[in-house]
Amino acid sequence: MKYKIPFARTNTSTNEYDYVKDVLDSGWLTTGKVAKKFEENFKSYVNSKHAISVNSCTSALHLALEAIGIKENDKVIVPALTFTASAEVIRYFKAIPIIVDIDYDTCLITPEIVESTLKKFSDVKAIIIVHFGGQAAQLLDNNSNKGLLNICRKHKIPIIEDAAHAFPTKHNDKFIGTFGDITCFSFYANKTITTGEGGMITTDSDEYATRMRLMRLHGIDRDPWNNYSSPKPKWDYDVVAPGFKYNLPDINAAIGVAQLERAEDMRMKRQKCAQLYNEHFSQITSIDIPVLTTPMKHHSWHLYPIIINNTSQISRDDVVKLLFENGISTSVHYKPLYRMKYYKETYNLINDNYPGCEKYYKGCISLPIYPSLSKDEIFHIIKVIKGICA
Ligand SMILES: Cc1ncc(COP(=O)(O)O)c(C=O)c1O
Repeated sequence: MKYKIPFARTNTSTNEYDYVKDVLDSGWLTTGKVAKKFEENFKSYVNSKHAISVNSCTSALHLALEAIGIKENDKVIVPALTFTASAEVIRYFKAIPIIVDIDYDTCLITPEIVESTLKKFSDVKAIIIVHFGGQAAQLLDNNSNKGLLNICRKHKIPIIEDAAHAFPTKHNDKFIGTFGDITCFSFYANKTITTGEGGMITTDSDEYATRMRLMRLHGIDRDPWNNYSSPKPKWDYDVVAPGFKYNLPDINAAIGVAQLERAEDMRMKRQKCAQLYNEHFSQITSIDIPVLTTPMKHHSWHLYPIIINNTSQISRDDVVKLLFENGISTSVHYKPLYRMKYYKETYNLINDNYPGCEKYYKGCISLPIYPSLSKDEIFHIIKVIKGICA
């Protein structure tokens, strides 16, 4: 077989190697000046007041819920179409995830879905908004005051954005990371920029930032890097809260600094791939592609899902099998939370209560989309899919 196209492929340039070598040569491998530099650069990129580096988006989401004061039995809204991390963090507090449907066309939580959920549950304490696949949810609505931000502010519900898929995504000409109360990014190995494992939190709130910095490293009241780099002997510290071990080491941050330099270049390459996919797949009646509400050039294109719709003669699983036989690896994002044993059984969730997500899930396939995907490979994928579905 000529083609063997993986679902994801990491993209590293020479700077990743050079910056990691600098860290190895420096004698300080854990969180220090490179993590600070990464935070400074990220903060300038998205234009947020604070950026706090962490070792995953899951830790970021946990710290965010802790900072806003989530407690046992509090209700937190989360969409069904997401990775379990978005919901499991709610359970870390013994709080209750209110798992809601998404819009089939965009794969996103919508203002209508949130409003109807708030009619059912008047005591919701927070919302986690997932910007699925790199497309921004409708935070602002230019034509009315009905965007997600307005609705949540009206109900005094803090907004945590799960932007694991959404760097660098723009909404109304501003980067995601500057809208809700706290935004959480992922730099997991297959994300749009990576540090191997890692994450970043952005916020404009001094209070939340102080709390999350404290809880990121054991609740220790000072930064070990400051002690290490102090010109005077310095060893004392105090523990003022039972914190976590969520800091991002300098080795990982060094990769992040290099990746951030190329974030737009890599996004542009994924966009070119998405443009070719759109052009070809929009002509196939048995395939739906998500409707764009974020302009092409503001979409980070973390995922490119196609949906084998109900006019298809062939099932989603058979398409996946045939693609694999033609050297193309794919994935499914996601088996929804209400279908997962833990959430289904704990909260008695029923598939029929999630019509938008069910329709999407039954047909969805995520195709390879990454900067190093060659034109040859893209056209091979298009040809095989046309052969199967057209
Ligand atoms: C939507 C979403 N949220 C959160 C996460 C968790 O990210 P991390 O692996 O950095 O903890 C992921 C990871 O895939 C994700 O896709």
